[in-house]
Amino acid sequence: MKMFGRVKRNWVVPAGQEPTELDKKVIAYQNKGILCPRRDMIRTPEQIEGIRRAGLLNTAVLDLVAANIKEGISTLALDDLIGEYTRAHGGVCACLGYEGYPKNSCISIDDVVCHGIPNANTILKKGDIVNVDCTTILDGYYADASRMFVIGGETTPEKQRLVDVTKECLDLSFEVCKPYTTVGDLGYAIQKHAEENGYSIVRELCGHGVGLKFHELPEVCHYGRRGDGMLLVPGMTFTIEPMVNMGKRNVTFDRMDGWTCRTADGLPSAQWEHTFLMTENGLEVLTY
Ligand code: MF3
Ligand code: CO
Ligand code: CO
Repeated sequence: MKMFGRVKRNWVVPAGQEPTELDKKVIAYQNKGILCPRRDMIRTPEQIEGIRRAGLLNTAVLDLVAANIKEGISTLALDDLIGEYTRAHGGVCACLGYEGYPKNSCISIDDVVCHGIPNANTILKKGDIVNVDCTTILDGYYADASRMFVIGGETTPEKQRLVDVTKECLDLSFEVCKPYTTVGDLGYAIQKHAEENGYSIVRELCGHGVGLKFHELPEVCHYGRRGDGMLLVPGMTFTIEPMVNMGKRNVTFDRMDGWTCRTADGLPSAQWEHTFLMTENGLEVLTY
C-alpha cells in the first residue's frame, strides 16, 4: 500500500463522495504525519445516544457500589450486587466471560493495580483503598468506568494523597483533551502530573476506544510525548483510566489466575476511569 510519510492513512473519504468539512480538516492533520482515526470511528448520533444510556446505567451501578461498600463486606458480595442490579435494569456485565474473566466486575485493593477478581475470602478492611471497575452493556452499547473508595472513610495520608492525585490525573483530561489534540498530548500531561508528585504511571495497560465493543482503538496511553498517538476528533468515544503507583511503575500478573495485576514493589496503586465523548467543545463525560 502506498504510504505518505511514516503514518498509516486511516482516514479515507469513500470513493465518489464529496469531502465534508470534517474530512478536509482531518486530512490536513493526516498530511502533516499525525495518526488519524478511521472515518468509521466517528460515532453516529444514534450510537452516541446508546453509549450515553449505557453510561447512565453504569453510573447507577457504581452509585450502588458507593452505597454498599464498607468494612467487613467481601468483594464477592459487592460483585453479586453489581450483577443483580445490572441485569435487573436490562444490562449485561461486560467483564463476565470476557476472555474467560470469571466475575461481573474488577475489585482491586491497595497493591492490586487492576483486574482484582472478586472472591468470598477478600474482606474489605478499614483503610483499604479500593478500585471498583464496572463495564455495562445496554442494548449492545458499552460504557466503562471505575472509582476509588476509601474503606471506613479514612486511610493513611500517603494512600489518601495517591487516591487524590490519581483523580487529578483523570480530571486534567478536561483541560488537555480538546478536539484535534492527540492521545500523546494527554499522556504527556498525565505522566507529568503523576511524576511531579513522586509517583509512576503503569505502562502495561491503557485506556481505549469504547462504545460498540469493550476494547477498541485508539489506544489511550497515560504517558508519552506531545503530538504522538491518535488525533482526537469530535464523535470519538474512549476511556481515560490512569493507573498510578506510589512506587515503581513495574507490575506483575498473577501466575495462577492470569488476571490480578499487582505492583512489583508491593506499594499501593490507584486508578480512576471514565468513558468520554469528544465534542466540538472538548470532552463530555458519559459516566461517573
Ligand atoms: N474494565 C477494564 C478496563 O477498564 C477491563 C476489565 S477486563 C476484565 O478496560 F476482563 F478483567 F474484566
Ligand atoms: Co477501560
Ligand atoms: Co474499566
